[in-house]
Amino acid sequence: MAPPTSITLRQPDDWHAHLRDGPMLQACAVHTASQFARAIIMPNLVPPVTTVVEAKSYRERIRSAVPAGLAFEPLMTCYLTDGADPAELARGRREGVWVAAKLYPAHATTNSAHGVTSMDRIAPALEAMEKAGMPLLVHGEVTDADVDIFDRETVFLDRVLAPLLKRHQGLKVVLEHITTREGVAFVEAGGARVGGTITPHHLSYNRNALFKGGIRPHLYCLPIAKAEEHRLALRRAATAPGQTQFFLGTDTAPHTADTKECACGCAGIFNAPVAMQVYTQIFAEEGALDRLETFASLNGPRFYGLPVNEQRVTLHAAPLVAPERIDVANGDKSVVVFRPDAPVEWSY
Ligand code: DOR
Ligand code: ZN
Repeated sequence: MAPPTSITLRQPDDWHAHLRDGPMLQACAVHTASQFARAIIMPNLVPPVTTVVEAKSYRERIRSAVPAGLAFEPLMTCYLTDGADPAELARGRREGVWVAAKLYPAHATTNSAHGVTSMDRIAPALEAMEKAGMPLLVHGEVTDADVDIFDRETVFLDRVLAPLLKRHQGLKVVLEHITTREGVAFVEAGGARVGGTITPHHLSYNRNALFKGGIRPHLYCLPIAKAEEHRLALRRAATAPGQTQFFLGTDTAPHTADTKECACGCAGIFNAPVAMQVYTQIFAEEGALDRLETFASLNGPRFYGLPVNEQRVTLHAAPLVAPERIDVANGDKSVVVFRPDAPVEWSY
């Protein structure tokens, strides 16, 4: 049978995106809004988004940064701190502002200094979320300096997430940007109340790529890419027939080139302009194009209890056309756009 030359699916959503603020938001919002109908907006601004008032005002800034004519709905999240207020969570949920709350273990990643230092501290907040049916989104890495960076996800599952799920039996949890075979197994074992997002970059390359011919700062993100067996496990999970628990989350996380190409570069990969093209490439390579819609457009809404999108989008089998970088602040700075090593043969 001839390979398909196009694929049409319900418009996807991005269940994990960093849109930033200020000039970076102005430069980046259009790229997420051009591909996705909705996106879960990460709250790790400086200072973080912790109150309903801040979330509403950030949502307005996002809406104004999206060009007129693009229909896009930002879904707001609350950044959990040790002092997270259960009443603020419940109120924001009732008012239709919070879609979820985000758990960053303190110091795990970019702008996580205000993150959570112990799960006991947020138990009241988690109880309120459980009652309100509000999902907890988890950056699943321990931060202990004595745990190897490649083991931080699996250690987190055992030490932190398994006890948390036991303690909060009704809480819905998304293990964000999974990077390991153990992460896949953990989500599967958790049943319907546990979901997992998978990024285009973790499906595209393994940890060797970070050091191919020299150090590659634009492939550095957290959790860091793991060994090949883990990448293959992610590809199997995303494309498995009938799977309902894994869904699209790009973790698009722009940093200007100067802050990545330096002695201590930032973690984060800007993939928004190429996200659907890369996911489609991966599903095509796996012979699973007929399952792309489930992963990109159906499983996420079902998990969050939101309607699926009615609009359709079409991708064509044609070499990727996308900028290598985009300008920020009138060209004073730029952000490098993610590219997998292998060719991407899909475009909008
Ligand atoms: O690589 C990452 N970048 N991982 C995260 O968890 C945060 C993100 C960012 O905000 O830059
Ligand atoms: Zn993220």
